[in-house]
Amino acid sequence: MGEREECMDDEKGDGDRVGCEDTREGGRACSHGMPPHTLEAYLEPAYWNERFSVEEHYEWFKDYLHFRHLVHEHVNISDCVLELGCGNSNLSEDMYKDGFTHITSTDLSPVAIKAKQDRCAAMGLDGMTIAIADMFDLPFSDGKFDAVIEKGVMDVLFVNSGNPWNPSLKTKERVTAMLREAHRVLKPRGVFISIAFGQPHFRRPFFEAIGFSWSMQYATFGDNFHYFLYTLRKGTKKLDVASTLPPVEDKLAIADLVQEHMDNEDYLLSALIESD
Ligand SMILES: C[S@@+](CC[C@H](N)C(=O)[O-])C[C@H]1O[C@@H](n2cnc3c(N)ncnc32)[C@H](O)[C@@H]1O
Repeated sequence: MGEREECMDDEKGDGDRVGCEDTREGGRACSHGMPPHTLEAYLEPAYWNERFSVEEHYEWFKDYLHFRHLVHEHVNISDCVLELGCGNSNLSEDMYKDGFTHITSTDLSPVAIKAKQDRCAAMGLDGMTIAIADMFDLPFSDGKFDAVIEKGVMDVLFVNSGNPWNPSLKTKERVTAMLREAHRVLKPRGVFISIAFGQPHFRRPFFEAIGFSWSMQYATFGDNFHYFLYTLRKGTKKLDVASTLPPVEDKLAIADLVQEHMDNEDYLLSALIESD
């Protein structure tokens, strides 16, 4: 299957950006291999299982070669890496072949995981761990990984999220839960890498929410159309900011604070400047 792209981002708030597909030969086009009937389906495990039972390979956004140089800037070859929501992408295989042999690739879909296990066994990539895991409740101990990486998975959580400047409470809860788990399983100086379509001014309030010791940096990649590779390294949040913030006891408190932050005029202004 050739390289194709599909995106489900609705952060523009127009409510109908379901998916777009590029083909290597033809440039931007809007046609889809397995698009769901509704945006909400992207949030349903049944949709992914059904899709993976007929679709062998699909690479969201871009394949590893397009952002390999950025991964190498932040992850050492000997690092323990966890991939969230691998689907039927080749990201972990490509990283493994590139030397990242301590890699655990996970997805909620048993169909995707079984297919990936079979594929990797056939290719002789025996060292890779491939396992079913819910990114909202990861079956890993605290501080286990040097790096956690995801591509296109967080973007799914933003489908039908309403006003992009103030996403629905459900969206805030889900994104925060995903980030909490990624943060928890990282070592004290570990890095979370999020490869996304979502723009920095919409992601920053989530990434830099209270309770996380990392701060956000990003790079872009892609040719005509840019994607973002966010890096969040634990322990890099400025102390003067962290020390003024109260501890957060639950997800709702974080969600409220995120909303307050996003409603703040300073935030809107800085976001506008940033996007110039
Ligand atoms: C847009 S696809 C991205 C697939 C792949 N990362 C790529 O780059 O092509 C989203 C993936 O997230 C997975 N997913 C959705 N909810 C999940 C959850 N709670 N835990 C783990 N994976 C999940 C889906 O099964 C699907 O494989």
